Amino acid sequence: MSLKLAVIIGSVREGRFAPTVANWFVEEAARHGQFEIDLIDLAEADLPLALPAVSPAMDPNPERPAGMTDLSSRLGEADAFVILTPDYNRSYPAALKAAIDWHFTQWDSKAIGFVGYSGASGGLLAIEHLRQVFNELNAHTVRNYVSFPRYYLLFDAEGKLLDPTEPAAAAQSMLDQLHWWASALAAARSVPAAA
Ligand SMILES: Cc1cc2nc3c(=O)[nH]c(=O)nc-3n(C[C@H](O)[C@H](O)[C@H](O)COP(=O)(O)O)c2cc1C
Repeated sequence: MSLKLAVIIGSVREGRFAPTVANWFVEEAARHGQFEIDLIDLAEADLPLALPAVSPAMDPNPERPAGMTDLSSRLGEADAFVILTPDYNRSYPAALKAAIDWHFTQWDSKAIGFVGYSGASGGLLAIEHLRQVFNELNAHTVRNYVSFPRYYLLFDAEGKLLDPTEPAAAAQSMLDQLHWWASALAAARSVPAAA
């Protein structure tokens, strides 16, 4: 059975560039051929910033808004994630933090990769912050990543990369690592966890 990869669009703002990056990456993931791909757009979920009264470590399955149900079940079904993130003030978008914080078991013992894009820093500042966050959630972030510094110079008006070779190689090597870790963690999840 193939592993399930949820590709998460982390930007929800009007006029966002994110769908261009998402379309490119989903094609790369399909070309990789080893995952069943689910593209998740956080703009389609209800993601309030006001969180439940009790922390997720104490109550990992709180009552969630009806508009989050679909998101929660798709996150739960995934074996691995690739998060697409821009840098917002040297970090990642608030909608992404809300999606992370509303969930807990959905991230546990799963593999996570990143595609970043922005100005000079190419999403790397957001990615480094996300690595810290996912440590707390007992997820494994893979070493390899894709970064698009000055993304606005790299894609044409139809959303195609002007020079696709290097980004494609970066995406494939990240997906290879992700698949290795996702396979190992899927097997590990079937045995009882350490306390
Ligand atoms: C609130 C905000 C903060 C930003 N901060 C940064 C930043 O720190 N570094 C950077 O290179 N670009 C920054 N940008 C530029 C974004 O990387 C750029 O607008 C990109 O298109 C955002 O992705 P999106 O269009 O998918 O939302 C910022 C943009 C916004 C809206």
